[in-house]
Amino acid sequence: MLTLYESQRRLTAFLLLLLTFCAYFTLVVSVKHENFKTCDQSGFCKRNRAYADTASSTSLWQAPYSLDASSVKFEQGILTGTVLKKLINSDETVRLPLTISFYESGTARVTLDEERRQKGDIVLRHDSKAKKQRYNEAEKWAIVGGTSLSSGAATSKGSEKGTTNVHYGPAGTFEAVIRHEPFGIDFKRDGVAQVKFNDKGFLNLEHWRPKVEKPAEDKKEGEEAVVAESSKEVTEDQSTWWDESFGGNTDSKPKGPESVALDISFPGYQHVFGVAEHAGPLSLKETRGGDGQYSDPYRLYNSDVFEYEMDSPMTLYGAIPFMQAQKKDSTVGVFWLNAAETWIDVTKSTSSANPLSLGILGSTTTNTHWISESGLLDVFVFLGPKPQDVITAYSELTGFTQLPQQFAIAYHQCRWNYVTDEDVRDVDRKMDKHRIPYDVIWLDIEYTEGKKYFTWDPMTFADPLGMEKQLDEHERKLVAIIDPHIKNEGNYHVVDELKSKDLAVHNKEGNIYEGWCWPGSSHWVDCFNPAAHSWWKSLFRYDKFKGTAKNTWIWNDMNEPSVFNGPETTMPKDNLHYGNWEHRDVHNINGMTFHNATYHAILARDKEEDKNNVRPFVLTRSFYSGSQRLGAMWTGDNQADWPHLEASIPMILSMGISGFPFAGADVGGFFGNPSKELLTRWYQAGAFYPFFRGHAHIDTRRREPYLAGEPYTQIITQALRLRYALLPAWYTAFHEAHTTGAPIIRPNYYVHPGDEKGFAIDDQLYVGSTGLLAKPVTTEGADGVDIYLADKEKYFDYFDYWMYEGPTTVKVAAPLDTIPLLMQGGHIIPRRDRPRRSSGLMRYDPFTLVIVLGHSGDANGTLYLDDGESFDYEEGAYIHRLFEYTSATATLMSRDLTPASSSPSKKTKEYLKSMEKVRVEKIIVVNVPESWNGKKEVEVSEELEGKSAGTRMAELEWHGKVEGRAAWAVVRDPGVLIGGGWRVGFA
Ligand code: GLC
Repeated sequence: MLTLYESQRRLTAFLLLLLTFCAYFTLVVSVKHENFKTCDQSGFCKRNRAYADTASSTSLWQAPYSLDASSVKFEQGILTGTVLKKLINSDETVRLPLTISFYESGTARVTLDEERRQKGDIVLRHDSKAKKQRYNEAEKWAIVGGTSLSSGAATSKGSEKGTTNVHYGPAGTFEAVIRHEPFGIDFKRDGVAQVKFNDKGFLNLEHWRPKVEKPAEDKKEGEEAVVAESSKEVTEDQSTWWDESFGGNTDSKPKGPESVALDISFPGYQHVFGVAEHAGPLSLKETRGGDGQYSDPYRLYNSDVFEYEMDSPMTLYGAIPFMQAQKKDSTVGVFWLNAAETWIDVTKSTSSANPLSLGILGSTTTNTHWISESGLLDVFVFLGPKPQDVITAYSELTGFTQLPQQFAIAYHQCRWNYVTDEDVRDVDRKMDKHRIPYDVIWLDIEYTEGKKYFTWDPMTFADPLGMEKQLDEHERKLVAIIDPHIKNEGNYHVVDELKSKDLAVHNKEGNIYEGWCWPGSSHWVDCFNPAAHSWWKSLFRYDKFKGTAKNTWIWNDMNEPSVFNGPETTMPKDNLHYGNWEHRDVHNINGMTFHNATYHAILARDKEEDKNNVRPFVLTRSFYSGSQRLGAMWTGDNQADWPHLEASIPMILSMGISGFPFAGADVGGFFGNPSKELLTRWYQAGAFYPFFRGHAHIDTRRREPYLAGEPYTQIITQALRLRYALLPAWYTAFHEAHTTGAPIIRPNYYVHPGDEKGFAIDDQLYVGSTGLLAKPVTTEGADGVDIYLADKEKYFDYFDYWMYEGPTTVKVAAPLDTIPLLMQGGHIIPRRDRPRRSSGLMRYDPFTLVIVLGHSGDANGTLYLDDGESFDYEEGAYIHRLFEYTSATATLMSRDLTPASSSPSKKTKEYLKSMEKVRVEKIIVVNVPESWNGKKEVEVSEELEGKSAGTRMAELEWHGKVEGRAAWAVVRDPGVLIGGGWRVGFA
């Protein structure tokens, strides 16, 4: 029998669930602000903002942190010491062990912990099992390399008194000036401060203290039964130290206040970017009010925010606490390694101009204030100076983006839901009938039997293997959703095992946690637990997850985790994970651990079971720094309206510069029904998302591209074909991301870091290093766009070679059937022009090379190619070419970029053999010199195995200038191989 309390609780949970479902099913809704905290409603954020205000407003403010000079030691690239926190109006101090590591890469890392003390040691308030320590395992999940210590870093005598200085970085040009009192650090490059810690004195590490109950007689009615450890700290708001309520939920805080905060300033830097994921401009806004600015800090607390709003610092599904600052010709960055809820204030100050320097404006400094609820203070500093230097250093630490299978960067067709296996087969046939290319079709939660993952609804998906077989006939794939909430229902093997093996997340009492999600009552697998990770792996074996085949891949959703009846739609912070870490400590990493377990499960499925050495594909909604190693992300539940289309570009650009470039947004918009114009424009934009998937809510009308009708279907098909033709360029960009961390789509500042005017531009993008510059149309009824050209270079329309020249803003016509896409002079773009049903069928197709001649007359470009499936590329089984056109000799050369090897691996030989007939079928040269007029032939010389294989002539077709368009030429069938060395002479 249920107790009265229990029945009430279930009724409330049910009502809540109903409400949540209603919200999901209502098409015109907007974000529910009341479900998510503002800084003012988050105790530690409010306290730290107040702390900062006190520090800024009191001229007598003395920051209470100092570095004990006698404790400082420097050995083999690591400085250690003790920072002392002086308690206000008291002689007592708290000891904070400091470590500053200097890495070979030029990255510095500052870590501040809290020493365990006898007196005043942490005492848990109630009988919680929570671990009595600051969370120090974020690095275990996020950091995978780049930490070899610098052998060259050395201390030197500081020029300022009371500092310890360390020279490090390339040729010792970096310097950390560590101020003892108050404790702070200036990071300099070439003698100039670029990044400053605690310059404003906001450093605050809320030390552990026991809760002291006031004697009952001292208590007045309604008063908090608490005083501080030192009653002298009366100025602090202690009302949320020991528990905190929001939206009907109370967070019992067994460890009391334990936040960490620091101000980080970027002197002379006008722009900061990063700290994804937010729906707002790429260049971060100020957050303490002002015209058009935000009044709340940027928040990082992974959450299921449906119908999220535009232009907002509100948190979204993932968190990457990595920020870059940009000024003319200089990029620097910081990475705040902390997995707890984090808020970041951004303000800018402009120093007044020197009255003597008539008319010259003062310089802008961006100040940031980072505030996390718990954990260590652990910050990495990157001193650039180029955007590429910063992103590479960050990627060395957190890992490079996965090199996906080729199908994963082609087009994905999804909706909630394809309702039967016959429905899937039908869509597959119709795409073919309409000659619309696609690679992957997706299944949302309805394919399961009653939302029980790893099962199929026997009524609707009776023959999954037959369905997968049909897809495979055209090398197509299936992606099925698997979420982390496991239905709490009898006779379901997954929940039975989860419980019996004790692998779920626990509540604060240490019992298995129960909450509500799609299946109703559910438990959550705790992927922090190595045993859960192993068990999860076993579930994906073909004999366990019956009905899956080699072309089945996985979608992980709701892994923030989303809990419909939980505080802020997620888990209570006092829940417990493996090792008795509170959920509070690990929240932002939680989604990544689930994604990680699935990635390894798929890896194991194919490798161990099947000896199949293929790269997993797993999409995730929630993420953290490091998730890029595991697959793709998308921006969650957007809406079918123009502002959401517009916002998708800066959001995906932001992911690109945050080390997680394999990103996309639901094409068409998740909630609501897009107009045909919007749908068409969205496909044209989606063709420039690294992850390109159409998706729609269960309550929307069907919108597969062939349903749009003409001219829309034809225009959408053209956009898809453009993506497919450019797959070689996209794949090469992915390879670059995989090896250097470079974004796949790049914002203006990244490509032109010397052009201040372009720093805030976030509605146009460059594709990899190809020189392709796209500006998707994101407004209704537009027939043209303005494109900003930052450099003194020629640009040409991709389709008709119309000529433009920078630096300036140009108008580009964009009627509905046109995607504004330019080619920057100086590049060579590889593509494959033959339309196919799927990318797999293009494997042996010939290539077209487009040489775009700009001001210098020279051009170059690269092509990376492998089997697009396996890990064989790690053993050298790939083709990597550099194409170089030199105007002085009018020759195009194809050179090998693979490292020279006297004994290529078996895999390399096999791969090259498989590609030995793949040739270049066309060379197009755009903006050819006038002197080519009348030219009919080119001379082709090939090399085979390092030796000249003779020369022959190939035909050249010349096309003169027509109104505003560049002259161009085409060599048809030069007869050269894509993987070979050759030279084409145009002279
Ligand atoms: C979440 C996802 C969405 C999915 C739905 C049902 O809202 O963000 O993409 O369709 O859940 O699984």
